[in-house]
Amino acid sequence: MDSIVVTGGKPLNGQIPIAGAKNAALTLMPATLLSEEPLTLTNVPRLSDIKTMTALLESLGVEVTSMQGGKVQVLSSHDMTSTTADYEIVRKMRASNLVLGPLLARHHKAVVSLPGGCAIGARPMDIHIDALELMGATIELRDGYLHATASGGLKGARVPLRFASVGATENVLMAATLAKGTTVIENAAREPEIVDLARCLRAMGAQIAGEGTSTIEIQGVDKLGAATHPVVTDRIELGTYMLAPVFCGGEVECLGGRMELVTAFAEKLDLAGVDVAETEAGLKVKLRGDRPRAVDVITEPFPGFPTDLQAQMMAMLCLADGTSVLEEKIFENRFMHAPELIRMGADIEVQGGQATVRGVDRLKGAPVMATDLRASVSLILAGLAAEGETTVNRVYHLDRGYEHVEEKLSAVGAQIARVPGV
Ligand code: UD1
Repeated sequence: MDSIVVTGGKPLNGQIPIAGAKNAALTLMPATLLSEEPLTLTNVPRLSDIKTMTALLESLGVEVTSMQGGKVQVLSSHDMTSTTADYEIVRKMRASNLVLGPLLARHHKAVVSLPGGCAIGARPMDIHIDALELMGATIELRDGYLHATASGGLKGARVPLRFASVGATENVLMAATLAKGTTVIENAAREPEIVDLARCLRAMGAQIAGEGTSTIEIQGVDKLGAATHPVVTDRIELGTYMLAPVFCGGEVECLGGRMELVTAFAEKLDLAGVDVAETEAGLKVKLRGDRPRAVDVITEPFPGFPTDLQAQMMAMLCLADGTSVLEEKIFENRFMHAPELIRMGADIEVQGGQATVRGVDRLKGAPVMATDLRASVSLILAGLAAEGETTVNRVYHLDRGYEHVEEKLSAVGAQIARVPGV
């Protein structure tokens, strides 16, 4: 398995292009299942999670044509052959569950394995199931698979979510586009990826209002058509690279970045003494003094501080002046990067969903283990600041969500290289 070797202490200067959002692409791709006509996605990130979703859709008979090295994808669900999402693919990635809503909506049936994905908590599917049942589906769990049917089709309903789950909101939103009548999702997730999905579905002919707020109203239509849609900028990749110059000095402009995608995160950076300026091309970031200041962070659903930037923020706070408290409210078991950061000299104490980080003057390079997607990139960031060499092992997690990380960072001056595994 490949590893990434970083030698710390090199200041970063220049521009980093930010890719299309992984989490948006992973819900836009299954939206193709709703229509017989082709869906063309542009600005698709080149990631292994996208390959996994491609394999899953192809296993259902979807034709996926990649162009421009994978940046453009044309998906056609004209000749589907299956409505079963097999365990062998689903176990690799939780987002595979996003085929459930569209399959039920157009084919009135779906068999979907319960998902795997990052080891960051239980991540059940009860919210998805309860919501689709309110729309007339019958769902049973047998042999690790959800067997879902909606004879006569899904019906519009009032669908209150007990928690603003991103995936459940996406599944219901897609399902409701072809349901009979009106669906109102209450306590809907408000993430930019949901707004992006709603825009794409609308381009396909869906009738949707209220995306980006807690109440989304969908008027079902008989069928959806063809569309072309650009994937929104990846706010998590954006936030990750915004942090890079804070670790080792310099000034980095993240191309394609927009403040409204990272407002809560940028507010914390400001408190920590990091300047974020909007430019014509993106966001420019620079540390004001020579060391960030401690700040407390609580992860929350959007527009709050994203859980997917918690590990990276923790890495920064390891080097801050003072003590910070990080509270993880979205996932249990999402501090697996803490023991690895401690191996690099960080002072972190984890108790339940709370981590206390006492800033230290410096980190030291060490061999470390990537345990999940965001944890792995937090170790690379820490490596940018650490004295000596940091080797991040098991980087397959990284490749799920960051395209060409070593190329993007070395282009702005980092000393970083991928070492192929044996
Ligand atoms: C999505 C993102 C992921 C991000 C997360 C939270 C994708 C592909 N992934 O994941 O990167 O970290 O949002 O912003 O978009 N839950 C239940 N029952 C359910 C569904 C969820 O209890 O039926 C719980 C989960 O265990 C978790 C919390 O709700 O504790 C948030 O999950 P959810 O918002 O659904 O996240 P995902 O859509 O899986």
